[in-house]
Amino acid sequence: SRILVLNGPNLNMLGVREPTHYGSLSLEQIEQNLHKLAASHAVQLDFFQANSEEKLIDKIHQSFQHVDFIIINPAAFTHTSVAIRDALLAVSIPFVEVHLSNIHKREPFRHHSYFSDVAEGVICGFGAQGYEFALQFALTFLIKNGI
Ligand code: DQA
Repeated sequence: SRILVLNGPNLNMLGVREPTHYGSLSLEQIEQNLHKLAASHAVQLDFFQANSEEKLIDKIHQSFQHVDFIIINPAAFTHTSVAIRDALLAVSIPFVEVHLSNIHKREPFRHHSYFSDVAEGVICGFGAQGYEFALQFALTFLIKNGI
């Protein structure tokens, strides 16, 4: 089965960007860790990061019938993007929403997500490990659903 890990704006700056909120690992290091975790499973793992809504939406559309599960950190678009939410609904690919930081512990404008009510689950506040938890869930989910 095929899993896509999607990351939104500014996450290409991980490692140098506000490490107290987002930790010291780069996105590349996070992706390498996920690769290691996936290695023992019959799963194809793809990664995509973009800073624009358009690129993220196009990637989601291209995933239609090509991807079985999405792990997404929509970053700042979490709090603004009806369009990315609608793209995920359009392709109806199950997904988990991940945030490195605990968004509920931060500014009120980060407390609302346009994704949580349509996600299989939401993980936040566990740093880079959150992606690993999401991947573990995805692997179980795909087996359970025979995908
Ligand atoms: C984030 C939280 C968002 O509020 C923020 O805009 C980000 C990253 C996180 O991973 O904690 O860019 O999604």
